[in-house]
Amino acid sequence: MSSTAVGGKLERSASVIIADAMIGCHILKIDGYSRTKGTPTGEFIKSHPFTMGGHCWCIRYYPNGYDSESADYISVFLILNESVTKAVKAQHKFSFVDDVEEQTLSLTSEDIHDFKSHHGWGQKTFIKREALEKSKHLKDDSFMVRCDVTIINKIHTEEIPMAEAATVPTFVSVPPSDLHQHLGDLLQTNKDADVVFEVGGETFTAHRCVLGARSPVFSKLFGAMKESCAAGAVRIEYMEAPVFKALFCFIYTDSLPEMNKEDEAAMSQHLLVAACRYNLERLKLICEHKLCKCIEASTLATILALAEQHHCHGLKKACFNFLSSPVNLTAVLASDGIEYLNRSCPSVIKELIAKIGALGI
Ligand SMILES: *[C@@H]1O[C@H](CO)[C@@H](O)[C@H](O)[C@H]1NC(C)=O
Ligand SMILES: *[C@@H]1O[C@H](CO)[C@@H](O)[C@H](O)[C@H]1NC(C)=O
Repeated sequence: MSSTAVGGKLERSASVIIADAMIGCHILKIDGYSRTKGTPTGEFIKSHPFTMGGHCWCIRYYPNGYDSESADYISVFLILNESVTKAVKAQHKFSFVDDVEEQTLSLTSEDIHDFKSHHGWGQKTFIKREALEKSKHLKDDSFMVRCDVTIINKIHTEEIPMAEAATVPTFVSVPPSDLHQHLGDLLQTNKDADVVFEVGGETFTAHRCVLGARSPVFSKLFGAMKESCAAGAVRIEYMEAPVFKALFCFIYTDSLPEMNKEDEAAMSQHLLVAACRYNLERLKLICEHKLCKCIEASTLATILALAEQHHCHGLKKACFNFLSSPVNLTAVLASDGIEYLNRSCPSVIKELIAKIGALGI
């Protein structure tokens, strides 16, 4: 190229990593535009190479268009200036620097192209020369073009082909954990049990070390119990036997017993209270999760009151989400649930009124 005063001047280059994509932008300044106009159609002037997303790129500027069809235009292309074995996937966008003040870095509207070794993609009809010459983009015989690029990094989605995985011989196969089975058997057989509970007229035997390891409340209780009274049964008030039984099941096996659909809502509410009482955070969340699916116009008031009293943020959100539908809100207002809420936790009524106000009903 004979034109010495012309060429790609590296003005700025930047890149950041966002999730699986690398976003970068490059600004190319064309100084002495009028002197580039002699370049024949199909010939280009290259920018300096620049690095973005771990790859080397350059921009090609065709002052008289890429081909005969675009002879009246300026064409710009982004070229991958390196040899790669696998195409680089990227989105790109060319614009004038002064147009893009408000442009975001996201290029989601553009197509993703495969950039192969020393090949590229671009815009044949970036701007008509006549239009450029009349525009504000051309100042003192120079203009700036910005190229935004999002390089899509596919590494994380690659999978091992099934055939390949299947050919790896397995000499040893490890079965899933059976800890819960062994501890469940311990609960069933009462072997070496060292504590007795009396709950709602029923007795339950258990192992202090297991209960203490799972619940800080039990641990404290046994620590405070004198050896002398260890023989007597521990009475548990304000809890029903089936709830205590399910609580033990969770303590020993980390899961809940099978429940039928009709009992699930009531049992989950009781168990949530028990979980709070014995400081079993995971059980509390399991119950909250189950209760989220039990929210209906008829159950909303009791579930919301429970969520409020036991600081269940997720469950409370689910209740308010249910009430965000005017139909559901009307159904709840028509039930006697509001009376119940007013009595059991008036604070939540205030919040509810605020939400209704926001809905404009
Ligand atoms: C692009 O790649 C070629 C071939 O590897 C190399 O000779 C050249 O210096 C690189 N840079 C530009 C701006 O073309
Ligand atoms: C409103 O109630 C219906 C029926 O119980 C339920 O299917 C729907 O998901 C509720 N709407 C919201 C926003 O939760």
